[in-house]
Amino acid sequence: MTRPSFDDRIQQRLEAFEPLLAAAAVARTDEVTEAASHVIRAGGKRFRPMLVFVASEFGQGVDERALQEAAMVMELTHVASLYHDDVMDEADVRRGAPSANRFYGNSVAILVGDFLFAQASDIVAGLGVDYVRLQARTFARLVQGQIAETVGPADGADALDHYLQVIADKTGSLIAASASFGAMVAGLPQDMVQALDRFGEEIGVVFQLSDDLIDIRSDVTGKTPGTDLREGVPTLPVLMLRAKADPADAALLAQIDGDLSDDERLAKVLAALRAHPIMDEAEAVVRAHADRARQWLAVLPDGDAKDALLRVCEELVTRSA
Ligand code: IPE
Ligand code: IPE
Ligand code: MG
Ligand code: MG
Repeated sequence: MTRPSFDDRIQQRLEAFEPLLAAAAVARTDEVTEAASHVIRAGGKRFRPMLVFVASEFGQGVDERALQEAAMVMELTHVASLYHDDVMDEADVRRGAPSANRFYGNSVAILVGDFLFAQASDIVAGLGVDYVRLQARTFARLVQGQIAETVGPADGADALDHYLQVIADKTGSLIAASASFGAMVAGLPQDMVQALDRFGEEIGVVFQLSDDLIDIRSDVTGKTPGTDLREGVPTLPVLMLRAKADPADAALLAQIDGDLSDDERLAKVLAALRAHPIMDEAEAVVRAHADRARQWLAVLPDGDAKDALLRVCEELVTRSA
C-alpha cells in the first residue's frame, strides 16, 4: 500500500481526532457530559489540532497515539478557555450555538471549563513532564492575558503595546504550544522546536488580530459581531484611531466609548468602522505580523509541511470567518 499523501494524513488525523475529543468530555454524570460536550459538538475550526499535526510532519514519523493526545490537550485547553471567555464577555453565541453561559448559566459554564482543563491535565500527564510544564506555563500565560485585557493598560502605558502583549499571551501562547507539541512528539531537534514555537506565537497573534477585525467586519462567524465593541474591549482599528487622534474621528470614537448595549446603535458604529480606511491600515499591520511569522519558517526544511504553514499565513490575513 502506498503511503497516504500529506493532505490525506492530516485529514485522517483530524477525522480520528473527533471521537477521541468527544470521549474526553465524558463525565461521571450525563448532566456534566452534556454541558461539557456542548461547545465541542458545536464544531469549530480545530486550528490548534491541525497545527499539532502539521508541525509533527517535519519529523520522520510519529507515535500516532501520542500525537492525538497532544492535539487533545491543546483543543481541550482551548475549549475550556472558551467556556470561561464567554462568561467574561457575556457572549450569547459560540460556534453558531447558544453559548454555554447562556444555555446553562455562568456557574455551570465556569465549572465545565474547569472540568475540561482537568481532562486536559490528565491526558498531558501521560505525555511526560516536559509537556505538563509547557501546558501549565501556557495556561498561566493565557489566563494572565485574559486578566490583563480585563484590567486594561496601566496609567501612562501605551495602549497598543498593551493590546499586543494581551493577544500574544491569551492566544499566541496556546498556538505556540500547539506547534511545539507537534514538534516534540515528532522528536525534532531543539532548534526546530523553537522555530516552530516562535512561528506559532506570531501566527497566534495574526490569528487574534484577524479575529478582532472579523468581529467588526463579518456576520458569518457563529459569534455575535461587535462583541468586543460592546464589551468595551478596544482592538487594533479602534486603538489605531485613538492613537491618530484625528478630529474627524472624534464623533465615532465618542460613540465607540459610549453605551453600545442597544442593537441599533451598535450596528451604526459597526457600519461606520467597516467603511473607515483604518480597516485597511489595520489589515496591513496584520500582514506585517504574518510576514514576521513566515520568517521563523526559514530554518525549517522545504516540503509539504512548510508549504501548509505558509498557506496558513496567507489564509489568516485574508480570512473572513
Ligand atoms: C476563538 O478561537 C478564540 C480566539 C482565540 C480568537 P477559534 O477562532 O479557534 O475558535 P473555534 O475553535 O474555531 O471555534
Ligand atoms: C478569546 O478572545 C481568547 C481566549 C479564549 C483565551 P476573544 O474574546 O477575543 O475571542 P472570541 O471572539 O470570543 O472568540
Ligand atoms: Mg470572547
Ligand atoms: Mg474575550
